[in-house]
Amino acid sequence: MNAIAEAITFAPARDELARPLRDLRLSVIDQCNFRCTYCMPRDVFDANYAFLRASERLSFDQMMKLVRAFVALGVEKVRITGGEPLLRRGLESFIERLAGVKTLSGKPLDIALTTNGSLLAARARGLRDAGLSRVTVSLDALDDAIFRRMSDVDMPVARILDGIEQAQAVGLAPVKVNAVIERGVNDSQILPLVRHFMNTDIAMRFIEFMDVGGAAGWSNSTVLTAQNMREIVESEFALLPLRSADESSTSVNYRLAHGTGTVGFIASVTQPFCGKCSRARVSADGQLYTCLFAKQGADLKPWLGDAVSSEQLIDAINARWNARDDQYSELNADRRRSGERKRWPTVRMSLVGG
Ligand code: GTP
Ligand code: 5AD
Ligand code: SF4
Ligand code: SF4
Repeated sequence: MNAIAEAITFAPARDELARPLRDLRLSVIDQCNFRCTYCMPRDVFDANYAFLRASERLSFDQMMKLVRAFVALGVEKVRITGGEPLLRRGLESFIERLAGVKTLSGKPLDIALTTNGSLLAARARGLRDAGLSRVTVSLDALDDAIFRRMSDVDMPVARILDGIEQAQAVGLAPVKVNAVIERGVNDSQILPLVRHFMNTDIAMRFIEFMDVGGAAGWSNSTVLTAQNMREIVESEFALLPLRSADESSTSVNYRLAHGTGTVGFIASVTQPFCGKCSRARVSADGQLYTCLFAKQGADLKPWLGDAVSSEQLIDAINARWNARDDQYSELNADRRRSGERKRWPTVRMSLVGG
């Protein structure tokens, strides 16, 4: 950022529903080495699929300009997503640059990463040394056969568990594990996952299957509700509610009454949390999406060149955020309650990183 932009203090952005802009989810690549059936089904994301070319992706310089602009508008947390973000070359050096950014309140940025964990074991230390604060690993099953069926890759669960262990060992805390639960596919894995991660400092979270872009085979009947998931956990473990420190948190969290460990439920479908949603998403090609279910993004690339000032970029993002009235999941819950079944195309999940 140039010296002039640094001297300007911008007021935190608010959208039409008075929601602040706190979290930026930045996708650094749209490719992935997995083919999860609910995100990148192999018959669609095959050898002919037109992923973004390297030349279409933002450079790390462009991403830095972008992050600084978001921070000027109030962002305190950047979550690096994909596809699979560890496939983007040079990610550690980008994180090192991110770690030097201060938020409006003068604190360092909270830098998180969402990964499938397959490349994490070898990279955890380097990521931590670069300044990454914490990681969230997606893991839908402990059973190898179920894991393979869902991720559609030939890889043992042990490899992901190794990544999780390494992340913990190097202090990328807190490590969170996210499991998307599909009714009849991996609901049998809820208890084994809780048992496996209890008495560790790893937060286990279960996510309702959403009808996002790319979710093959989604229907109402494939959603196991967070309430059902909690009942399954409570069939074996007593849970005590935890108060969330972060009001825009996606998960409702509990701690195990006996032993240690936390379990969270992300009820995006049945208990949507749009009212507090402070998340903006930027795809690897520089499109700003103000909702996970947006049909279209706003192209930020024209503001990312050297000839355009940071103030102009900040103004452009601010204007877009000010006009934001998204509350897809809440409106959709209303529509479902009234019996409406219609779905429409939304941005694919692998472009905006969930
Ligand atoms: P923390 O920073 O640790 O609070 O992470 P997070 O919960 O914001 O991010 P994470 O990537 O762990 O999100 C977990 C899952 O929750 C995502 O993969 C999505 O399935 C879902 N999710 C996250 N943000 C949103 C959102 O804004 N809307 C909806 N509908 N679902 C979301
Ligand atoms: N429903 C819920 N969560 C999903 N994710 C991907 N697709 C879906 C879906 N259809 C989540 C994965 C991963 C993150 C990248 O997005 O769990 O944690
Ligand atoms: Fe890859 Fe994550 Fe999508 Fe699975 S959910 S295909 S690991 S981006
Ligand atoms: Fe935010 Fe859109 Fe998700 Fe609602 S549906 S919580 S507005 S991203």
